[in-house]
Amino acid sequence: MSGERDLYFLRNLWYYALPGQQLQPGQLLGKTLLEEPILFGRTEAGQVFAMRDLCPHRGVPLRYGRLVGTEVECPYHGWRFNPQGECTLIPGLVAEQQFNTQKICVQSYPVREVQGNIWIFMPAKPGDQPPLELDIPTVPGFGLDFAAQAWQQFQFPCHVDYAISGLVDPQHVPFVHRAWWWRTDAPLFEKAKAFDPAPLGFTMRRHRLLKTTFFYRLLGGTPEVEISFQLPGVRIEATFTGPNTLCNLTTMTPITATQTEVTTLFYWTTPWITWLKPFLLPFVNTFVHQDLAMVAKQQEGLRYDPNLMLVGDGDAQVRWYYQVKKEFSQAQAEGREFTNPVKSQILRWRS
Ligand code: FES
Ligand SMILES: [Fe+2]
Repeated sequence: MSGERDLYFLRNLWYYALPGQQLQPGQLLGKTLLEEPILFGRTEAGQVFAMRDLCPHRGVPLRYGRLVGTEVECPYHGWRFNPQGECTLIPGLVAEQQFNTQKICVQSYPVREVQGNIWIFMPAKPGDQPPLELDIPTVPGFGLDFAAQAWQQFQFPCHVDYAISGLVDPQHVPFVHRAWWWRTDAPLFEKAKAFDPAPLGFTMRRHRLLKTTFFYRLLGGTPEVEISFQLPGVRIEATFTGPNTLCNLTTMTPITATQTEVTTLFYWTTPWITWLKPFLLPFVNTFVHQDLAMVAKQQEGLRYDPNLMLVGDGDAQVRWYYQVKKEFSQAQAEGREFTNPVKSQILRWRS
């Protein structure tokens, strides 16, 4: 298992930043992403922008300032910056002191709001722009203006690689998520699932769902599910039950080298799920906290820097994650196209 202990972050990708609802018009919000201080703002007209959260004058975080019209005002000496990060005003200068303020710039970041989520492009070099062919992840069956009906966020106390390898790993499910409403202490079942390469990741091919769990029995019909994973850390599970679609978007964004923000969002067309929402969210909360508690325990062991293993098809998706990540960073470094190392195949495991 090579490469998996190089705990680096990928660049030149769109990262999930925050749910759009967390940033109201006229609001500023500072947030660390990939160890960088970032200021998010939303103008009264609704436009979202992002820039480095440090005033270039004396380094005060701009989040302590305020939004004046469409400009950010630093709280220390009142310098102002437009959404592109250009300085527009230095109030302390007198009229005769000719100074082109626009020479002063705060790094700005490309941001987009899609399906109710704010995504940020984290460049390798300040100012790099997102390639046009790089799509922002979206859930299938919902318009670009459709926002999630429910979402929750969690802080995992680990590097993003461990959060992701916990999420794409099918074999922990019967052990970590042992609960009456999910699985009882039942024997393991043999699984055989078809996988295909997908842009910057892989997809578990759409298939009929075995209705072994309480929740899926509730859904009724003959649900079919498709699960995809893509860099930098985005998992989309789409369940189709006849006329209805239920999607779960889960994103993993590095905050620091030892903290990862996991956001899980739900989109549905099934009207009755709305009524179940107060009951579903505690389930989701319990479920994700089981994963969180396990990676916290794992960190205790990783302090001793053990060699780790990837064994059999059950670990294939974790292996693929590391392979896809490595290929992406090598392709970036060599300035060539990404070639997906994943091949279409059937994986078999017990879980
Ligand atoms: S530190 Fe921001 S204006 Fe001086
Ligand atoms: Fe899990």
